[in-house]
Amino acid sequence: MLNYFKIAANIVFRFLKAVYYLISFGVYIVQLSIRDLISTVTNPFLPNRPVGNVIPRGYPGHGGVWPEYTAPKRGEDFRSPCPGLNALANHGILPNNGKRITYAQLSHAIQHAYNLAPTLASQLTSAAKQLDQGRGWIDLHDLNVLNVVQHDASFTRPDIAFCPDQSIPHTDLINRLLDHASDGKHLSLTDFSYYSGLRRAECKRSNGQYTLSGSFIHKMIGSGTSVLMYSIFGGDIEALRVWLLDERFMDGWEPKNREALGHTIAQALTTSLAVEFSIDEKQALREGDVFYHE
Ligand code: HEM
Repeated sequence: MLNYFKIAANIVFRFLKAVYYLISFGVYIVQLSIRDLISTVTNPFLPNRPVGNVIPRGYPGHGGVWPEYTAPKRGEDFRSPCPGLNALANHGILPNNGKRITYAQLSHAIQHAYNLAPTLASQLTSAAKQLDQGRGWIDLHDLNVLNVVQHDASFTRPDIAFCPDQSIPHTDLINRLLDHASDGKHLSLTDFSYYSGLRRAECKRSNGQYTLSGSFIHKMIGSGTSVLMYSIFGGDIEALRVWLLDERFMDGWEPKNREALGHTIAQALTTSLAVEFSIDEKQALREGDVFYHE
């Protein structure tokens, strides 16, 4: 016999929990937006960080000098589908084994290494919190799960239906992305938008379990990662090749975005929206392009 008192108590408890989360989320979004707006409108009035000093003195990567690179031991260390985080782990800025990384560690590491505003670092980190389960930390391979952050039609990994381990960079796909730099040196926003259209069209054709079509949020995450590569690397294919393939920082490399208060959510979001709405999955393919079969 079901215990109706227990059922009623559970409904009330879950309802109150949902209200609590909704209010906390609302407060987080409002304070984050206000802080981000202040940084966004202040940045243009402040001098940019000087070249060679984009990463402050005392932080790893200052002056383009990065801590020693140690490749992950496969089968032992954990890595994610994200080159941005894997590179930090490979240089020991995040734990090299990729395990038990707290949100404070994540946020601090990405903010300084990539010159992000604390607001953008916090927003990116909050994406990982969806995997928390109350632990207060993640292992990098937790990010492999489909449609939390990781999604189909990415640039650097085949879809999870063909490649269950999303932690390993896919050499062919990465070289193919970099070959799409129209000027042979830099990927422009138009190149990123074209390549997204190409990946989405080909993955939709070849993957019977393709899920990106129905999710605007995950499409925006995809466009967001294009924009990070454009803003932080200036689309420079030489630096991107090392970062995407070896998940390592090139000697002497520092972020191209030199805003005094760091790159903000508002900047990243407006450019991501522009990229997202310029993607056309039915576009004419560039000469020499064919759909890739995974
Ligand atoms: C805590 C913060 C972050 C989390 C939780 C995170 C998570 C992820 C995940 C799960 C993916 C796989 C997405 C896909 O399926 O394509 C990804 C991809 C990626 N991330 Fe991150 N990331 C973070 C920060 C960053 C930062 C700071 C950068 C830039 C420097 C970055 C750049 C990228 C790029 C370029 C990709 C590859 C996109 C592709 O293959 O299409 N991420 N990230």
